[in-house]
Amino acid sequence: MLLTVLPFPPAFALTTPEEPGLERDFRADLDVPYVPTKQETVEAMLKLAGVGPKDVVYDLGCGDGRIVVTAAKRFGARGVGVDIDPARIAEARENAKQAGVASRATFVLGDLFNADIRQATVVMLYLLPSVNQKLKPRLLAELAPGTRVVSHDFDMGADWPPQKTIHLGRDTIYLWTVPERRTAN
Ligand SMILES: C[S@@+](CC[C@H](N)C(=O)[O-])C[C@H]1O[C@@H](n2cnc3c(N)ncnc32)[C@H](O)[C@@H]1O
Repeated sequence: MLLTVLPFPPAFALTTPEEPGLERDFRADLDVPYVPTKQETVEAMLKLAGVGPKDVVYDLGCGDGRIVVTAAKRFGARGVGVDIDPARIAEARENAKQAGVASRATFVLGDLFNADIRQATVVMLYLLPSVNQKLKPRLLAELAPGTRVVSHDFDMGADWPPQKTIHLGRDTIYLWTVPERRTAN
């Protein structure tokens, strides 16, 4: 994925009537186009967060549900995926069913900015720098201290540096842990 000018490869970033088929990834109501994370990177993200059976893994902008489905199937966790695109939620539910984890994987149709994330012990993101920035105050205010946050390709800005960064070919994944909240004196 290109990191300099365009956060997504040109095929996803530009679409014209001459490029049939790409329009579907550029709906006006999406804050981020649909680009699925490679399965190898999905597993690395879950390992980086140390996901296990006690975890509740949220994927904000879950696409076809692969992160939540893998968290349930391979790591024994429960998970919740949120996506604003009904086609993605339908796919995710079907994928969870096919993988035999439908009872541990919930998919919610809605805007990630309105999602109730307080039950998460792990939050997975594959969004955009501007979307991470917009989400950051909520992550810090609403997630329990100790909740791990993993982002594919995009960090949280200089004021919340990652505690770990891993490069996997062209992908980069980042880990943060939500700190204790500061109390006023
Ligand atoms: C880059 S894809 C990531 C998909 C998945 N998390 C993965 O890593 O494979 C971003 C997803 O965010 C969804 N999305 C975009 N804007 C959203 C919003 N405001 N609320 C919820 N989902 C949104 C898109 O439909 C798309 O499925």
